[in-house]
Amino acid sequence: MLYIGIDLGTSAVKLLLMDQEGRIQNELSREYPLEFPRPGWSQQDPEDWKKAVLEGIGALLAGFDKSRVAGIGAGGQMHGLVVLDENDRVIRPAILWNDGRTAREVDYLNEEIGREKLSALTANIAFAGFTAPKILWMRKHEPENFARIRKIMLPKDYINYILTGVHCTDYSDASGMLLLDVAHKCWSREMLDICGITEAQMPRLFESYEAVGTLRPEIAAELGLPETVVVCAGAGDNAAAAVGTGTVGEGACNISLGTSGTLFISSGRFGVDPHNALHAFAHADGRYHLMGCMLSAASCNKWWMDGILGSRDYAGAQAAITDDKLGRNHVYFLPYLMGERSPINDTNARGAFIGMTMDTSRADLTQAVLEGVAFAIRDSLEVARSLGLDVRRSMICGGGAKSPLWKKIMANVLNVELTTPVSEQGPGMGAAMLAMVACGACPSVEAVCAKLVRTSETVRPDPEIAARYEARYRQFSKLYPALKDVYPQLL
Ligand code: XUL
Repeated sequence: MLYIGIDLGTSAVKLLLMDQEGRIQNELSREYPLEFPRPGWSQQDPEDWKKAVLEGIGALLAGFDKSRVAGIGAGGQMHGLVVLDENDRVIRPAILWNDGRTAREVDYLNEEIGREKLSALTANIAFAGFTAPKILWMRKHEPENFARIRKIMLPKDYINYILTGVHCTDYSDASGMLLLDVAHKCWSREMLDICGITEAQMPRLFESYEAVGTLRPEIAAELGLPETVVVCAGAGDNAAAAVGTGTVGEGACNISLGTSGTLFISSGRFGVDPHNALHAFAHADGRYHLMGCMLSAASCNKWWMDGILGSRDYAGAQAAITDDKLGRNHVYFLPYLMGERSPINDTNARGAFIGMTMDTSRADLTQAVLEGVAFAIRDSLEVARSLGLDVRRSMICGGGAKSPLWKKIMANVLNVELTTPVSEQGPGMGAAMLAMVACGACPSVEAVCAKLVRTSETVRPDPEIAARYEARYRQFSKLYPALKDVYPQLL
């Protein structure tokens, strides 16, 4: 049988068709626009997602026997606020995970409702990208739109709704709304009250690997698929990527270098970071994880290469950065192009190059961008280490992981062995694997990981380079604190 995996990303949807041995039979991606209506704001039209997914599935299946498709799973960008009216029509563009408009609402939640209470109710505190502050923002700034809300959901849930007609979400994605009681896996009535919404407006909760339904007849007809195709609840993209890289069970780690950069540590037990610097979320395997998320990771390199240098020759630009240069760069880059989430939680933070001299080259700046992202991931790793989590090895996936140089920098900055899976399509692959479980083709998420995930190469830290980076990281760590008070004055 065949399974479709959907990775509903920020710049594009990536689709793949996988057989039950985990072999990718076809894959493609469809881009859609991303709007930045004001600095630090970020939104997208859910109708663009719908169009890209439906057209993309049609193209993905061309030439394949559609009657062999058994299941569909979606992993999606997390936290985005999708609001539907009484006719299930989208009310306004979705406010995305990297949108920073909710600084006031975040302060209200963290300072007035209080971090302790939020953490007790939801296992997390408020961050600008989370869904609850966006609901408060909408209540204040768009009261007419707010009054029309019949259903609230997350990006990939909208796709599942289009496919099945069911208003659903899964625990991993729901964890990032700041409305879920993560420990008890139910909506927090108190949080819903704080946001002025009711449980009837929330989607039904499922485990990621559970079936939410089958295709609506009209969608099945449009796609030429059997109506019996099962759609699973799917997962937030990071939990889906973790499944795709086999990051399940106790203490396994995955790093994703996509538009965002995440450090994901799976756990068999529910646990909260006492300082809430790392998110405490449900995992797609039915258990839990801790996660640090930086808002701009591979997107920093894309900004630097495409936007500033006007070049798409990423490999060419990186060729000049030889091993002897690693850990010796005198330029630092702060990767806060969209503000920052983990661990500093500062919507005012901004990108910066520092340390340039007359002999600084273009290659030094390119290197600084790659290193700045690695240092910022290290910030989250340090939080994990302070909690006693001993991370020595990790999987790595996402667009940035295609660069051998970036992987080497990451391995040495983190002092962690980094392994790449054979199938690099993290979230899409994980989502297709969840669909396999939902269809009964595998008994559990752990079993499907054991069966399908194969690793390719491992990059090991080099003691000399890692020691040089250790000193550089200590310098990097002083830069944000020095600039922190300046940033609000730049707005
Ligand atoms: C995770 C997060 C991002 C998005 C990217 O908390 O906000 O990783 O899920 O798609």
